[in-house]
Amino acid sequence: MSDKLVQVTENTGVVRLTLNRPEALNALNSALLKELNEVLIDLEGRKNLRAVLITGAGKKSFVAGADISEMRDKTPDEARAFAGQALATVKRLEQLPVPVVAMVNGYCLGGGCELALACDWAIASDNAIFGQPEVNLGVIPGFGGTQRLPRRVGPAMALDLIITGRKIDAAEALRIGLVNRVVPVGKLEVAAAELTQQFVMNGRQAIRDAKRAIHDGMKQDLDSALALETSLFAQEFASEEQREGMGAFVEKRKPNF
Ligand code: HXC
Repeated sequence: MSDKLVQVTENTGVVRLTLNRPEALNALNSALLKELNEVLIDLEGRKNLRAVLITGAGKKSFVAGADISEMRDKTPDEARAFAGQALATVKRLEQLPVPVVAMVNGYCLGGGCELALACDWAIASDNAIFGQPEVNLGVIPGFGGTQRLPRRVGPAMALDLIITGRKIDAAEALRIGLVNRVVPVGKLEVAAAELTQQFVMNGRQAIRDAKRAIHDGMKQDLDSALALETSLFAQEFASEEQREGMGAFVEKRKPNF
């Protein structure tokens, strides 16, 4: 493995990003965020990309938040720039046209939880710990947590987590809808690999359109969002993928997307 802060490995269109600062529980500093942003720009241009899996190096942590030592002495302007850098990077991840899966292998706190919230799917080990503990540091979540968390788990639960700063275990994260699946720690790798393979079998355009309809639709009023859905749905009937998908059903075979 390289000593890069974001390690990139690939297997037939599934790209795995490993955030690699295990000595600081993979805390997000400017250098790591810069590298992640560059990797994502590269992925945006990839034609054969099918899915992205993001995880943390080591056995203890996904990401334990933004780097507190680096943030500590920032001025308001520097803090704004840091949040802006992180928000732009997280948005890039969210807007990739393929499924993005967070594989949460331990602490998932603060900016780490906010990073997971920008993923389409989250699978966690049963020893994972989640939380937005920023109030304990005298700040609020600044990588999108005050906005994406209520959209994911509802405003009451988001307020509970953000104003108490309490940590929750994987079972509670599953119950409130913060993650999609929890598996025993020893099965995390295999379960995540199986999951991403399932995504790879599905139609690429349909996945891209579903992400767009949901993400863009959530920002609109219901009628506009329904019109967006209809427009994407209708356009799909000009595609090879729709012909193959429906043709395969009628011919009683598996589709080949
Ligand atoms: C910098 C961190 C860090 C962080 C851990 N480390 N989290 N460094 N920033 N967020 C470092 C520790 O300083 C320590 O370094 C090493 O990682 C191991 O951590 P320990 O604390 O010794 O481990 P442990 O006792 O097991 O405790 C684990 C932990 C704790 C519960 C996760 O580290 C912790 O509470 N971390 C901070 C979590 C947090 O508050 N996150 C939110 C950050 S604010 P040394 O050198 O001592 O070995 C945030 C805001 C985002 O994310 C918005 C910004 C715009």
